[in-house]
Amino acid sequence: MALKNLLALVVLLAFVGVSVAKPYGNQLGNPRVKGDLDLDYYRSTCPQVESIVRRVTFQYVSRRPTLAAALLRMHFHDCFVRGCDGSILLKSPNKDAERDAVPNLSVRGYEVVDAAKAALERTWGCRGVVSCADILALVAREAVAVIGGPWWPVPLGRRDGRISKLSEVNLPSPFSDVKTLKKNFLDKGLNSKDLVVLSGAHTIGVSSCGLINNRIHNFTGKGDFDPAMNPSYVRTLKKRCKPTDVKTPVDMDPGSARKFDSHYYNIVAQKKGLFTSDATLLDDLDTNLYIQAQVLTRGADFARDFSDSMVKLGFVEILTGKKGEVRRRCAFVN
Ligand code: HEM
Repeated sequence: MALKNLLALVVLLAFVGVSVAKPYGNQLGNPRVKGDLDLDYYRSTCPQVESIVRRVTFQYVSRRPTLAAALLRMHFHDCFVRGCDGSILLKSPNKDAERDAVPNLSVRGYEVVDAAKAALERTWGCRGVVSCADILALVAREAVAVIGGPWWPVPLGRRDGRISKLSEVNLPSPFSDVKTLKKNFLDKGLNSKDLVVLSGAHTIGVSSCGLINNRIHNFTGKGDFDPAMNPSYVRTLKKRCKPTDVKTPVDMDPGSARKFDSHYYNIVAQKKGLFTSDATLLDDLDTNLYIQAQVLTRGADFARDFSDSMVKLGFVEILTGKKGEVRRRCAFVN
């Protein structure tokens, strides 16, 4: 009898094992997913990949927690241009690569990805094996974990792109309305829920006066402010940002900018979203309902939703199989 039970258990575990090892790609219903990724992609080549990336990321982010926001944003910007192929990491002597584009000039933390890659290249089995696109996806996850944010699985097996062009950087604009943002996301296989959930990343990090001065000082050219903005918040921002100041940092989620929580939805609901792209999430029925639900439930579903949408983001237009390459150094093609 005991043997029979044991046998049943073994059969059951074998089934569970099969379903866990199943590639992730086709489960997502994402039209931009062309290839499969696998949670255990490096099991036979570099099984230590996750622990190495975790250690290196922890070393940097625990010393400088503001890097978490920068690294999460870097992964997003990578995925939205040519897919999650590590193209944002490439350097060009002519300063015409993705990282030289205006929205990427404030992206920081390349040294963390480079250090993780260097640590992997020093590890037996991992040399020339782990793509920079995968490393960036893992670094973003680990960086958010260091500051106590949500965790998400990172299926692996992305390959690195060989092209990175400033002229191709067409990221969603902070001045866009919700209709445009929904289209930007749909073009990448991400829906309205992903838009409102991933915008929740603005619960951490900073921007600067330059990007919001028009909203607070001169919205229609008559010295007015954006009526979609809470007047008392405008007064606070005006004290910090003089009309010609472009540099002074401004928290994205005032009152809770260092904590990865659902507080962003509270400030958006109070018309204190920093950008038009945050405020406009109130203008669409679906995104508005999500915001209200998070406020009412104090973000009961936010961590799980964020995790699901990050997995989807990590599949956008990926290169797999024989496409692309595995770079030896993340800033340069082989
Ligand atoms: C919906 C469209 C989005 C727009 C228009 C947008 C725009 C921006 C802008 C303009 C900034 C400030 C940059 C600066 O001042 O240098 C910013 C910061 C940031 N964004 Fe977004 N973003 C969007 C979606 C996302 C998504 C999907 C993520 C990640 C999943 C993200 C993560 C971040 C983070 C973490 C920061 C703070 C960066 C730091 O402190 O260094 N954003 N975003």
